[in-house]
Amino acid sequence: AASTTVNLAPIEPGMQLTVPWQKKPVIIVNRTPEMLASLLEAEKKNLLKDPNCTVPQQPPYCKNMYRARKPEWLVMVRICNHLCCIPHYRPKKASVTAWWVGGFHCPCHGSMYDLSGRVIKGSPAPHNMCIPEYHYAPDGKSVTV
Ligand code: FES
Repeated sequence: AASTTVNLAPIEPGMQLTVPWQKKPVIIVNRTPEMLASLLEAEKKNLLKDPNCTVPQQPPYCKNMYRARKPEWLVMVRICNHLCCIPHYRPKKASVTAWWVGGFHCPCHGSMYDLSGRVIKGSPAPHNMCIPEYHYAPDGKSVTV
């Protein structure tokens, strides 16, 4: 299957880039320390359906809170697993609801995810969003899905 390589340099902290990969959108987010802290906040507030990523929606090396090889970089298939819409990127706290810790919001039926793509309780989507297999170049400056 065709792979896609993305240069990480232009993606500044807090920003995202979405690229096509095998006809699917893949989002790459450069998460700030505050954004990483929001992942723990989502766990502490007991917001998540599957906080420990028990459903295999990620490669084994991404079965962690960050759902990533390196905490700051999220690499994820940007497709809501309810009915396959593309969720909005809403990283700012309280930008969707008063308790919003930052994450993704699906415009179709309101599914919500944290900044690791872990689905929030009450969402129609059943599972966390999918993390593809990926690797870094030896110099760490690009990622290939
Ligand atoms: Fe995302 Fe239905 S497709 S909530």
